[in-house]
Amino acid sequence: MPAYKSLVVVVLILASLPYSESFDYGDALSKSLLYFEAQRSGRLPHSQRVKWRDDSALLDGLEEEVDLVGGYYDAGDNVKFGLPMAYTITLLSWSVVEYGDEIGGAGELDMALEAIKWGTDYFIKAHPQPHVLWAQVGDGDTDHLCWQRPEDMTTSRRAYKVDEENPGSEVAAETAAAMAAASIVFSVTKPHYSRLLLEHATQLFEFGDKFRGRYDESIPVVKEYYPSASGYKDELLWAALWLYRATHNLTYFNYAIQNGESFGGTTWAIAEFSWDIKYAGLQAIAAMLPMGGRSEEENKVLKQYRSKAEFYICACLNMNNSTNVKRSPGGLLYTRRWNNLQYVSNGLLVLTAYSDHLRWTKQSLECDAGVVGWHEILSFVKSQTDYILGANPMGVSYLVGVEPSYPKRVHHRGASAVPFRDSKVFVGCMQGYHSWLLRQAPNPNVLVGALVGGPDLNDRFRDSRFNFAQTEACTYNTASLVGVLAKLNIIAPTVSTSNQSLSNK
Ligand SMILES: *[C@@H]1O[C@H](CO)[C@@H](O)[C@H](O)[C@H]1NC(C)=O
Ligand SMILES: *[C@@H]1O[C@H](CO)[C@@H](O)[C@H](O)[C@H]1NC(C)=O
Ligand SMILES: *[C@@H]1O[C@H](CO)[C@@H](O)[C@H](O)[C@H]1NC(C)=O
Ligand SMILES: *[C@@H]1O[C@H](CO)[C@@H](O)[C@H](O)[C@H]1NC(C)=O
Repeated sequence: MPAYKSLVVVVLILASLPYSESFDYGDALSKSLLYFEAQRSGRLPHSQRVKWRDDSALLDGLEEEVDLVGGYYDAGDNVKFGLPMAYTITLLSWSVVEYGDEIGGAGELDMALEAIKWGTDYFIKAHPQPHVLWAQVGDGDTDHLCWQRPEDMTTSRRAYKVDEENPGSEVAAETAAAMAAASIVFSVTKPHYSRLLLEHATQLFEFGDKFRGRYDESIPVVKEYYPSASGYKDELLWAALWLYRATHNLTYFNYAIQNGESFGGTTWAIAEFSWDIKYAGLQAIAAMLPMGGRSEEENKVLKQYRSKAEFYICACLNMNNSTNVKRSPGGLLYTRRWNNLQYVSNGLLVLTAYSDHLRWTKQSLECDAGVVGWHEILSFVKSQTDYILGANPMGVSYLVGVEPSYPKRVHHRGASAVPFRDSKVFVGCMQGYHSWLLRQAPNPNVLVGALVGGPDLNDRFRDSRFNFAQTEACTYNTASLVGVLAKLNIIAPTVSTSNQSLSNK
């Protein structure tokens, strides 16, 4: 079928759905990429568009005699956490690998590549030797005692590493996945850089695999913030699959086949995909690998991966007989109270990519409750995305900056304070609480493109800086939305952005 014809079919299908108003996905995509500039640590370039931010943390790594300037703050605080930062870069890269053309069509490809490179440049510095990875700068406990702009930080900037004696397989493997996925992104435009990323990815995977250990035991200060509940076996499989996609080297494919069962890849069926628990994502990646030219045994294992990936997708679609993902009365997927939208956003990228896979391979999905076509998965993705952008009982866009209504009190130190450009007067550790956190007024800086934690199980949302379960945003919330928005922008050209009267129905 010619592309324009299938486009018409999709638009017709989407137009016939409830909540079928169209949002300006292209605009949301542009905004989502701005968010990564607001989260930058280090020396900001001249091209920096988010002007309320300035240079910060320019001495990171100095005490440890390693240059750790750069990278991203993960959320509303000023810690650089390695595991979620790497996961963010993997998701951004996955978005570009699948939807680079669509992102380019929206005029945002350069911005997406910059957002990825800001992360990979940092990982190159953080990985100075094959078996050493600097996995964190600052710590949650001392950071959270203060409410300061990153430009004013006076908290500890101690850096933490994993190495042979203190291994950290989750963070080593996730960083390997990020570098491998990013190497695909840059393979045409920056081949030398791409090869460099691949070299780091190969070493990091070898390090994480050979020196196995939980990273939160080697870096105990991370335990309260990003502990690893699922262990490191999911990250090892995830990294192997990304390395295989990047290199086509069968060593990595065989790793995923041989360890599929013992690492839970072909046995765990989990209704969650997140920075910690990556089974659904890696199962989907395995399920989308071509099966031609492989042995019967290999294809049997790939089918086992596929059945678990499909369990996850059916669970999101509410089409399994037993386990499904809960939904709010307004229809939003609901996993847990704390930053629920991360699970929605991360899942939507899996669903979008899988929908395209089914489409191109002319397959459909067989859930307990019936057969599902690729377009139904995509319509579901659209409905969840529309909920995020304002088609919800609160009539609020949870992607900050999307008019007419969005959270004004995001739990974010930098956004809550006067811009450094306007006042370089130092704001002390405790002073920030009184001057900025405790105010009732909206944040002076709009954290455009941030996807906040979002509403509760009953679609309720309270816009307060203290309500951090709902008003804090994280880099990995927005990262996966980049691909989803690019896809929706292509299939459902915008009708109107401003009129969202439907959202209150
Ligand atoms: C495949 O990867 C393995 C592990 O990194 C390496 O030893 C081997 O040389 C690679 N093979 C090819 C053909 O590049
Ligand atoms: C859910 O649906 C998938 C896809 O058909 C199937 O493989 C799985 O067994 C089902 N699981 C449950 C628990 O219902
Ligand atoms: C799911 O439940 C329906 C209705 O109870 C039943 O007809 C169907 O056989 C079940 N499917 C599976 C795969 O268990
Ligand atoms: C939005 O649409 C409704 C119903 O079509 C209309 O009454 C209202 O005036 C529109 N609002 C704006 C801001 O265009």
